[in-house]
Amino acid sequence: MDWKVPLFDPDIDETEIASVTEVLRSKWLTMGARTSQFEQRFGAMVGVPHAVAMNSATAALHVALAALDIGAGDDVVVPSLTFVATANAVRYCGARPVFADIESYDCWNVGADSIESALTPTTKAIVVVHYAGYPCDMPRIIALARARGLAVVEDAAHAPGATLEGRAIGAWGDAGCFSFFSNKNMTTAEGGMLTTTRADVADRARKMRSHGMTTLTLDRHKGHAFDYDVVGLGYNYRMSELNAALGLAQLDRLADGNARRADRVARYRERLATIPGLSIPFAHFSGEPSYHLMPVLLPRGIERSDVMLRMKDAGVQTSIHYRPVDTFSRPSAGRRTRRRTCSRH
Ligand SMILES: Cc1ncc(COP(=O)(O)O)c(C=O)c1O
Repeated sequence: MDWKVPLFDPDIDETEIASVTEVLRSKWLTMGARTSQFEQRFGAMVGVPHAVAMNSATAALHVALAALDIGAGDDVVVPSLTFVATANAVRYCGARPVFADIESYDCWNVGADSIESALTPTTKAIVVVHYAGYPCDMPRIIALARARGLAVVEDAAHAPGATLEGRAIGAWGDAGCFSFFSNKNMTTAEGGMLTTTRADVADRARKMRSHGMTTLTLDRHKGHAFDYDVVGLGYNYRMSELNAALGLAQLDRLADGNARRADRVARYRERLATIPGLSIPFAHFSGEPSYHLMPVLLPRGIERSDVMLRMKDAGVQTSIHYRPVDTFSRPSAGRRTRRRTCSRH
């Protein structure tokens, strides 16, 4: 379909094309120097000493939880209003997702109160999602987690470049997980990044990303190593040099892109305010969001699919972000949330 206004339109220019072409010409295609450079520059933006590039945010979430020793018998609190990958990552570890509700019709993030009411005697970690790039109430959530000895993972798929109290999103919890899927604020086609202040988490994540091996193909190619050991269960979650080259170029434009998004959101807010009954969440927020999505809440009694069809006819693409995970037919086999605030649709 030829949308007049598509949901997303990756901002790819000659710089990206030249960077990717250069990788192809270099003939070193798998994880290497560009990936390391991308990790260093992304980590510097987030203000953390460790960034580990992966081939998706889903992989980063899985590895973050596994590196934090989440496993069978553990409960992990996750928002019900998120993409299914957030909850699936918990299940990859053999743990059980326990769903928490949004804070209010204005704040679609999970809050400390909703997290608290989802805690069980076996809760070991909390995953928060900075929905649409609006920062969660991290000071309260971190305080709650620390008081109970729980780990915190930030699903920052929507939030590259977002900050709260001067600290980047992705630098608050034990790990932050970013997505570079092609509809995100910056893209590597497919890709993700784990950020952390913890050397132990970074070290385990680096090994898990590549089969639990102690050296890389590049180390052996350069003659820095002849052999490797396997020191734990690992996966192939590596990023390629092509993706990293794209990421480096995109990172340079992230701040500008986020500023343009802020400007568009302000204009949408102003114009949509004239439609009776329509509400736009996050009228109140803290910090500097990344404005990944532009969500609206329709008035009661208006059929959402009718609105979507009318907008489709006008060439404007819309999408549902998200059907709450615990309402799917197989809701990530987790424990359902007692829905206090989400029942409007
Ligand atoms: C909130 C959230 N978490 C995780 C993911 C998974 O990201 P990826 O596609 O990079 O695995 C997404 C992707 O849309 C997302 O929106």
